[in-house]
Amino acid sequence: MRLGVLTGGGDCPGLNAAIRAMVRGTVSEGHEAVGIREGWRGIVARRTIPLDRGAVAGILPRGGTILGTSSYDCFLEEGGVDSLLAGTEELGLDGVVAIGGEGTLGIAHRLHVEHAYHVVGVPKTIDNDLAGTDVTIGFDTAVHVCTAAIDRLHTTAESHNRVIVVEVMGRNTGWIAAASGLAGGADVILVPEAPAAIEDVCDHIRRRHDEGKDFSIVVVAEGYPLTWRSGRQESPVVQASDEYGYDRLGGIGRVVAEELTRLVGYETRVTVLGHVQRGGTPTARDRFLATRLGLEAARLAGSSSWGRMAAVRGNEIVGVSLAEATQERREIPAAWIEAARVVA
Ligand code: F6P
Repeated sequence: MRLGVLTGGGDCPGLNAAIRAMVRGTVSEGHEAVGIREGWRGIVARRTIPLDRGAVAGILPRGGTILGTSSYDCFLEEGGVDSLLAGTEELGLDGVVAIGGEGTLGIAHRLHVEHAYHVVGVPKTIDNDLAGTDVTIGFDTAVHVCTAAIDRLHTTAESHNRVIVVEVMGRNTGWIAAASGLAGGADVILVPEAPAAIEDVCDHIRRRHDEGKDFSIVVVAEGYPLTWRSGRQESPVVQASDEYGYDRLGGIGRVVAEELTRLVGYETRVTVLGHVQRGGTPTARDRFLATRLGLEAARLAGSSSWGRMAAVRGNEIVGVSLAEATQERREIPAAWIEAARVVA
C-alpha cells in the first residue's frame, strides 16, 4: 500500500514524533509512506515528499511539523472535494493518515462518510478538547510551558505585591488553564466550562490580601467569558475569524485585569503566553504518546481500518471511530473544577 501522512490545523510539539512513528510503522509492515505538504491542501495541490526511515531520522525532538500545515477545508472551496478525490487518485494513495484536531479530523470524517475515503486519524491539539481519547498530542508540552511561566511570574508577583493575570490558550475549553493553574499553584483559575463571577474573584483576592498575602496569580483561559454575579456574561474576546471561519480568541487577560483594577484597585499586570505554548521541543510524555499513536495509525491504515482514529484509553492505545472523536467538544471534568475550587 502507498499511505500518505499529513498534519492539519495549528502546529504543536509532537507532530514530528507522530510522523516518524507512522512512517517507520508503515515501512516495517512492508508498505510505502508519502508525506503530504500543508494539510489537506497538499493533496489538492499534489504536493508530496517521499518518506522512508532515513527521511524521518532526527526529527523526534523537533517542534512544528516537517510537512507544514494549513487549515485548508475542501468542503468550503468550490470544487474542493472533487479536486481532493482526483488528487488522491493521481498521487496513487491507497489511504491517508491525518494528524489533526477537530477541524482536520472533521474533514476526515466527512470524507470517509460521504465519499468512502480511506483515512485514519491521529489526535493532536494543545487544547486537549477532542472526544474519543483521554489526551491529545501537544497538551502535555503546553501545560509544561505554562506551568514554568506561572512559576516565574510568581516570583515577580511576590516581590512587587502585584496581581498577575496569565492568559493561556485552549479555545473554548479550559484544559490548559486548569492543568497549568493547578500545577503552578495559581490563586484563581478561570475557565469557560464553569465561569466564576468576577466579583467572587475580587472577594477572594481581597481576602488573600487581608490575610497578609499581597500578591495573586490569576490564570485565565482565552475562552473564559467575563461573568458577573447577576448572570450577565460577555462572550470571549474574538480578535478575528480566519478564512475558514475559525474564531481567533485572545484578549480576555486584559479585560479581567481591567476589571480587577477597577473593582479591587491592586496593582495588576497581564502576561499573554500566546504561541510560545505551541512551540519548541515536545516533553518526553508527548514524544512517547505521539510515537505510540503514530504506530497505531500505521497499523490501522495497514489493515484498512478506515474511518478510525488512534486514541488513548487509560494506559491502552486503541482505535475509535472518527464519528465518536468528532461528535462533540470534550470539556474538563467536574472533578478538575472542584479541585481548583478547593486549592485555588
Ligand atoms: O487550537 C490550538 C490553538 O493554539 C488554540 O489554543 C488557539 O485559540 C488557536 O489555536 C490559535 O490559532 P492561530 O495559531 O491560528 O492564531
